[in-house]
This record gives sequence, structure tokens and C-alpha cells, in this order.
Amino acid sequence: MLEAANIRKKFGGLVAVDGVDLEIGRGEIVGLIGPNGAGKTTLFNTITGVLDPEEETKISFNGDDLLALDTHEIARAGLLRTFQIVRVFGEMTVMENAVAGALFGTDESISREEAEERGREALEFVGLAEKADMKAGNLPIAQQKQLELARTVASDPDLVLLDEIASGLTPVEIQELSDTIRRLRDERNISVFWIEHIMDAIMGTADRIIVLKSGEKIAEGTPEEIRNNQAVTEAYLGAEEDS
Ligand SMILES: Nc1ncnc2c1ncn2[C@@H]1O[C@H](COP(=O)(O)OP(=O)(O)OP(=O)(O)O)[C@@H](O)[C@H]1O
Ligand SMILES: [Mg+2]
Repeated sequence: MLEAANIRKKFGGLVAVDGVDLEIGRGEIVGLIGPNGAGKTTLFNTITGVLDPEEETKISFNGDDLLALDTHEIARAGLLRTFQIVRVFGEMTVMENAVAGALFGTDESISREEAEERGREALEFVGLAEKADMKAGNLPIAQQKQLELARTVASDPDLVLLDEIASGLTPVEIQELSDTIRRLRDERNISVFWIEHIMDAIMGTADRIIVLKSGEKIAEGTPEEIRNNQAVTEAYLGAEEDS
């Protein structure tokens, strides 16, 4: 579904992402880990059209050249993302946020009624239905993150990119969120590409994990393989010694 070859992104002299190849298939949950500053968010930004990568980069999604599309067209094509800093429309109600997801999602000709139906259903999916009439900005952070997911679900995507959606949550909240992410795949056939520093959450949920360090992919494999990978262990130890 997502195929990328040689993703590179420079900021002046700094090569933030350095020649990364990756593929994500239908129904897969793929984790993206690596020390702070490894280039994870920058990688997401190049895939979602927030940043233009270097010339040699090739990224396609369901056969379309993603680099020819703007962010809005990428969402229409079925690729959605959440942000490291939660971004709900704080002044709007929870329901209005979910409906916005449906209105700006993959179905361009969706009616207002259908969008409302889909929004309601998405809130039920993440367990926020009772909060529908609350102002989104008044939700606790864990529920704002659920709302971001609901908005994504309402847009009926094929692939969602989640940037540290579990950070700042309690262990119980992380467990609930991990369950919801698994249900995205199991019940909706949505693929997930997930950046997370919380190892238990990502190791327990992802089918496959990609590890970045200093912009380069240093490992890829099952959670078990990654846990036992010497280069990965060293990358994290090195990062701790540096800081
Ligand atoms: N807009 C920018 N301009 C200049 N440098 C940037 C910009 N965005 C990121 N960087 C740099 O690129 C590198 C990768 O940053 P990025 O945010 O992608 O890392 P990350 O893996 O997401 O880290 P974290 O785990 O802390 O979120 C860092 O050295 C960062 O300082
Ligand atoms: Mg980041």
C-alpha cells in the first residue's frame, strides 16, 4: 500500500532522514522507534506532504505518486496522520470534531447526514460517544487523543500515521489506546504506522518494527527480533550517554 524508496530530508547541513526504504501493507501495524532526534517525525512529515523531501525520494500510496499530491489530496487518497502535539479543534464540540473528519475524508461527495452518522459511529468506536456535546478543548488529554483517532476513523482511511499518541497517558490509558489501535486494523482493516517511545505499548501491538537512528534505518523486524538486536540496544544506550 505505502511504498517508499530512499526517503531523504535535509535541514541545511543536517541530514534528518537519510535514505530510508520502507513498505507498509494492508492490515499491518508497523512501529517506528528510535532515540530523540532520530528523524521519525520528519519521516512522517515527508510522507504526509508537510515537508518536501530531497529529489531522489520516491513515495507511492496505492500506486499513486504521493509527492505529486498536497496534504489535503493525500488525506483524500486515504492516508491520515495525528500530530505529536495533540490537535483537536478546541472550541468545537467532540461531535463536530468527528464530523469534520468525515467531511474532509476519503468520501468527497459525502452528505451532511452521512458525515454526522459516520462521526457518531467513530465516537462510539473509540468510546467517546457520551462526550459528544462537550467542548473538545475541555476533554482531558487522553480523551483528546482518542478524539484525534475518532476524527481519523471518521475519514475512512486506508492508513493512519500516529506520532507519539500514547505519550503522557497512564498505563491503563495506554492499554486502552493500544486496544483501539488493534481494533482499527482488526475491525476496519486500517493499516497503522506508529511512532512511540513507550516500548511496552509498541512492542505489544506492532507486527513489525522499524528503527531509526540519526536518520538511518538501523533495524527492521518483529518486536522479538528488535528486542534482541544489538545495534538497537546500542543506539538507545548511546543516546542515554549523550544526554
Ligand atoms: N523544521 C526543522 N528545521 C531544522 N531542523 C529540524 C526541523 N525539524 C526537525 N529538525 C531536526 O531534524 C532532526 C530530526 O528531528 P525529528 O523531529 O524528526 O526527530 P524525532 O525522531 O521525531 O524525535 P523525537 O523522538 O524527539 O520526537 C533533529 O536533529 C531535529 O532537530
Ligand atoms: Mg518526533
